[in-house]
Formats: sequence, C-alpha cells, structure tokens
Amino acid sequence: MTTTTTLRTPRLTLRRWREDDIEPMAAINADPEVMRWIGDGSVRDRALTEAGIVACEREWEEHGVGLFAVECRLTGQLVGFAGLSVPDFLPEILPAVEIGWRFGRPFWGRGLATEAARVVLDFALRDRGLARIVGVHTVGDDASEGVMRKLGMRRERETTHPVHGLPLCVHVLEARS
Ligand SMILES: CC(C)(COP(=O)(O)OP(=O)(O)OC[C@H]1O[C@@H](n2cnc3c(N)ncnc32)[C@H](O)[C@@H]1OP(=O)(O)O)[C@@H](O)C(=O)NCCC(=O)NCCS
Repeated sequence: MTTTTTLRTPRLTLRRWREDDIEPMAAINADPEVMRWIGDGSVRDRALTEAGIVACEREWEEHGVGLFAVECRLTGQLVGFAGLSVPDFLPEILPAVEIGWRFGRPFWGRGLATEAARVVLDFALRDRGLARIVGVHTVGDDASEGVMRKLGMRRERETTHPVHGLPLCVHVLEARS
C-alpha cells in the first residue's frame, strides 16, 4: 500500500521520512535525557536511527500507518516523530495500534507533542477508521502520561516490560460508536 499522507497543525507538518532526516533524528536519539524513559534508557547511534527510519517506512508501505517525521513549519527543522505503530514489544496487549512520540529537547514544554498527537489520533480514528488506540509509557515518564491524559486516554493497567523488566503503564482510547 502506498500512502503519501501529510498532516498539518498550526505549528507542525507531519510527513513521511526523508534521507536528510537521519542526521537530526540521530542527534535526538543520542540525547540521554530524550531516551531516559524509552526501552532500557540506552541512547541510539546513527546506524540504529537509520534502521528505525527504514522500518517506519516499511510499516507505512505495508500497513498504511506508521510514525511520521514531525517538522517545524516555521523553520523546517526536524522536531522528532509522532504516529502509530504495532506494539510488538508487548505481546500481551496485541492486537493493538499504539500512538507514540519522541521530540528533541528544544521542542519540549511548548505543547507541540500534544498538538502532534491530537492530529495523529484524528488520523487514526477518522482517516484509518481504527476503533481502539493504546498508549504505553514507562512508569515515571510523566510528560508522556500528561500527553495521554490530554488526549482523553484512559489509564487501563500497569504491566512489566517483557525484556527490560521495567514497569509500564497502558492507556486506552476507544472511538465513540
Ligand atoms: C514526551 C514528550 C514528547 C512530551 O513533550 P512535552 O513538551 O512535555 O509535551 P506537551 O505537548 O504536553 O507540552 C508540555 C507543556 O507545554 C506547555 N505549553 C507551552 N506552550 C504551550 C502551548 N502553546 N500549548 C499547549 N501547551 C503549551 C504546557 O504547560 C504543557 O504542559 P501542561 O499541559 O502539563 O501544562 C517529550 O517529553 C519527549 O519527547 N520525551 C522523550 C521521549 C519519550 O519519552 N517518548 C515517549 C515514550 S512513551
């Protein structure tokens, strides 16, 4: 399935990935503060970043959903990503589609993550017709929990990361029928 979906908000463009996103995304993935609550907290190098972007693009082609590259409309800078993925890392909640995000530190504290997440949620529910979206964050990641709360997601349960053993919190949003 080929899709060229682009979403816009007042401050952001959400679009498919390009080759020149690898460097700025690698810089975001190399920041320990950004990575603190992701997986076991390890930073990721350029090769892992590139592999991640290739995997995102494959997901877009195969499933018609994926993580968008998020760009600042004013400056054209890469802000990070936001979008949809299948949470294979947590088999107990499958089948599911997860909403997620990761922004560079200069873009925190400005309401941009919530702005991006809102348009992704709308895309998931209206455009893709999904009935149920989950959000998963590490316990302690208050910023992500705050975004999920602002999206109107309901805290469903706590569980444990099957590989790292860290406590996770699962939020859910169901489309109104
Ligand atoms: C998770 C992450 C994207 C959240 O970013 P964020 O900037 O804190 O998120 P928000 O969009 O909710 O903005 C936060 C604050 O910006 C402030 N803000 C400033 N200007 C604003 C505006 N114009 N509109 C709305 N809020 C604004 C608000 O006070 C808001 O906080 P509040 O709603 O609690 O008052 C960011 O911390 C991140 O990338 N972390 C690392 C990666 C990560 O943890 N990913 C998630 C794994 S599950």
